[in-house]
Amino acid sequence: MENILSVKHLKKTYENGQQTFNALVDVSFTIAKGEIVSLLGPNGAGKTTTVSIIGGYLIPTSGQVFVNGQEITTAKRRPRMGVSFGGELGFYRNATAKQNLAFFADLAKIPYRQQKAEIERVLEIVALKNVANKKVGTFSKGMTQRLHIARALLGQPDLLLLDEPTSGLDVEIAKSIRDTIKYLASNGISILLTSHTMTEVEALADRIVLLGSGKVFATGSVDDIVNLSKVDHIDRPATLEESYLALAPQLRRN
Ligand SMILES: Nc1ncnc2c1ncn2[C@@H]1O[C@H](COP(=O)(O)OP(=O)(O)O)[C@@H](O)[C@H]1O
Ligand SMILES: [Mg+2]
Repeated sequence: MENILSVKHLKKTYENGQQTFNALVDVSFTIAKGEIVSLLGPNGAGKTTTVSIIGGYLIPTSGQVFVNGQEITTAKRRPRMGVSFGGELGFYRNATAKQNLAFFADLAKIPYRQQKAEIERVLEIVALKNVANKKVGTFSKGMTQRLHIARALLGQPDLLLLDEPTSGLDVEIAKSIRDTIKYLASNGISILLTSHTMTEVEALADRIVLLGSGKVFATGSVDDIVNLSKVDHIDRPATLEESYLALAPQLRRN
């Protein structure tokens, strides 16, 4: 299968004055076209650091990232990639959703005459068309999260990086965002999703990259990860969460 993303031996050492910290020790994985890969791991495992490096926001200490076979740090043109870190920040609260997206469409160098149609397209995908002219400051958390995804979709990226896309959202809203993610993948977009919600990973991931203390602990399907640990006090197959809990002590930094 053709790999859209290939991450090779990423290492990231944060340096604050005298202190150094090895956030990523050795992280390698791939994503095929249309595949949803979930980076799963406890807080501090290095998920956001990995996403930041792939998105071009952080320079790795060593290692390489290939998108469509091109090493991104040396690529002349940035590959078509959408990144969403979510959260409350990142938009002009006194501007409407449409105005915000127009600003980001400019940044993404989408030609002016295509912007209107492109903004309509992304608002439609995330179901925000009816509030397109409302100020972002009036948006709920879930709506803001949808807008983050809309922004990431500007310019029709082949690869989407979503850091904790449903974190802090109501169950129903989280479900609707998961449906949107599934829809995007079924349209051939490759997705890297970080999460610490097991049900989300079970529902979405074609493959899991299990991260612990800056290293890839294991890679595989949900079943592969479930089979890594023996949960023997139950007489049915273990859930991902049960399995993960059994593995958790090994994933933590010491
Ligand atoms: N700018 C920074 N300076 C120093 N340490 C950092 C910085 N950013 C993150 N870290 C540390 O690196 C580790 C990995 O962080 P992060 O990638 O945010 O993990 P995750 O997203 O899996 O929770 C954590 O221990 C975190 O405290
Ligand atoms: Mg994180």
